[in-house]
Amino acid sequence: MKTVVITGSARGLGFEMAKVFKKNDYNVVLSDVNTEKLKKALEELNQINSKTQADYQECDITKEDDIQRLISFSINRFQSIDIWINNAGVNQPDKAIWELENDEIQCILDVDLKGTILCSKYIMKEMMKQKAGAIYNIEGYGSNDAKMLGLSIYGTSKRAVTYFTEALAKECEEKHTGVIVGKLSPGIMITDFITNALANKERITLSEKTKKVYNILGDYPDVVANYLVNKMITNTKNNVKIDWLPNYKAAWRFMTSGIHKRDFFIEKK
Ligand SMILES: NC(=O)c1ccc[n+]([C@@H]2O[C@H](COP(=O)([O-])OP(=O)(O)OC[C@H]3O[C@@H](n4cnc5c(N)ncnc54)[C@H](O)[C@@H]3O)[C@@H](O)[C@H]2O)c1
Repeated sequence: MKTVVITGSARGLGFEMAKVFKKNDYNVVLSDVNTEKLKKALEELNQINSKTQADYQECDITKEDDIQRLISFSINRFQSIDIWINNAGVNQPDKAIWELENDEIQCILDVDLKGTILCSKYIMKEMMKQKAGAIYNIEGYGSNDAKMLGLSIYGTSKRAVTYFTEALAKECEEKHTGVIVGKLSPGIMITDFITNALANKERITLSEKTKKVYNILGDYPDVVANYLVNKMITNTKNNVKIDWLPNYKAAWRFMTSGIHKRDFFIEKK
């Protein structure tokens, strides 16, 4: 039986990916910053009928001790880690760079960039012992160099995550580690993330223009998770990008938006 560990998986994309892995007979380790949320998520995950098991371990990805505890917990529980997904992330308050408090900037960089780097470092050491494994990092706004007011520090982090992931993939190959590394690009998802900054510390009010774009390009996370997980399960290549919303698909969505009308925000008005 194979095992997947997903950071930030008590809700949103991480939790939806966990469900798809469980349905595909993977052992699953959920992890997040809040034990109560994790317990609830595990209960729901356990309702999925499969040959495998699931468990959780609290882990703040900005803390080295937590990361190491998550790795040793997963190995003790399931013997090996086949796939590790650096999914945990926080959104940015809708402010220009100079309007952000220093601790807000620090929080975004710590979770979205440093957390991914630290988790990758420690899980690499474990996967090198196994001489096998796959690590996936999540791209986001800014990964492709796009820029937008209010997302500059988040974008800085995600742009760096893209570079970091490619650099890690290259090192894995050159050092013959047996580990593969890839990027997951989930497009825009209708999760709590889009209306909450800094892990629910600050609310984001979406403008009508932003909602219009999200209605055209966005998807619920279960749809995206299904696509990403099915690609990860069959992938054997290093340095891949698994892309839910490539440019041609985004262009098609805009071209057909007059016919395929959607409103994700209708109940929230
Ligand atoms: N929602 C989108 O439109 C979108 C688009 C592109 C990329 N992404 C990326 O996808 C990933 C998942 O996003 P989501 O929409 O499911 O968000 P979400 O807010 O629903 O879930 C993120 C999870 O990460 C957890 N988390 C936050 N800080 C943490 C920390 N320090 N340690 C461990 N866990 C922590 C949160 O508690 C939460 O459960 C993130 O990396 C995000 O940047 C999201």
